[in-house]
Amino acid sequence: MKAAEAQAQVSDYWTRRAPAFDGVASHIAQASLWRDVLAAAFETQGTKDVVDLGTGTGACALIAASLGHRVRACDGSAGMLAAARQAAEASGLEVTFEQALIEEATFAPESADIVTLRNVLWTLPEPMAALRKAHLILRQGGLVLVSDGLWSVAAQYRSTYPDTLAASLPRHDGLTEDEARAMLSEAGFGPARSWQHLFPASPYPGDVPMFVLTARKG
Ligand SMILES: C[S@@+](CC[C@H](N)C(=O)[O-])C[C@H]1O[C@@H](n2cnc3c(N)ncnc32)[C@H](O)[C@@H]1O
Repeated sequence: MKAAEAQAQVSDYWTRRAPAFDGVASHIAQASLWRDVLAAAFETQGTKDVVDLGTGTGACALIAASLGHRVRACDGSAGMLAAARQAAEASGLEVTFEQALIEEATFAPESADIVTLRNVLWTLPEPMAALRKAHLILRQGGLVLVSDGLWSVAAQYRSTYPDTLAASLPRHDGLTEDEARAMLSEAGFGPARSWQHLFPASPYPGDVPMFVLTARKG
């Protein structure tokens, strides 16, 4: 399957899942734990420019906004983004949303201090292109935060994508921390630092190997 066709199927899938997503995603239920971890991992006190790539229902973007940052976010799925806009309105937090694929989003080069990608790399036809985009839009010294897991090891986290779509996504089984470190390095980032130890227990019941990594644009 060509990357564009795979991407269209991914966006349609998430639009179908959008109405129920916040009810089932464990990282939404554990938003306050994630808030603590992201606050530490951002390693900053002041207000920064944050971009959340593949924002889904906006969970990470809203956490960043709640920490006082100026936040922009994009997603390729109209349905997920509609839920994100509703969530932002309900919370009274300000996030500028753009319906766009990461690769096509209009964020200006060197316009962000922090870029986040949570649970997005596994579902991309071209995950390295997303990391290169993160590198492009970060200012010198800016921080990328990626979080993902080895979703294939537990039935409850395995995607329900059709086999043909799954086969066309290079990281569909998920990622290990070491693989993510190598990808960050290949995208031009400096040494990565891990933060998942700050969770009091695994944020994904079932103990799926997961990671939260940050690295800087050197
Ligand atoms: C598992 S959800 C994660 C959402 C969110 N980051 C979170 O932590 O809750 C994956 C999201 O990635 C989005 N996505 C997939 N491919 C994308 C792409 N190329 N550009 C932008 N968004 C994409 C999907 O539409 C979906 O909303």
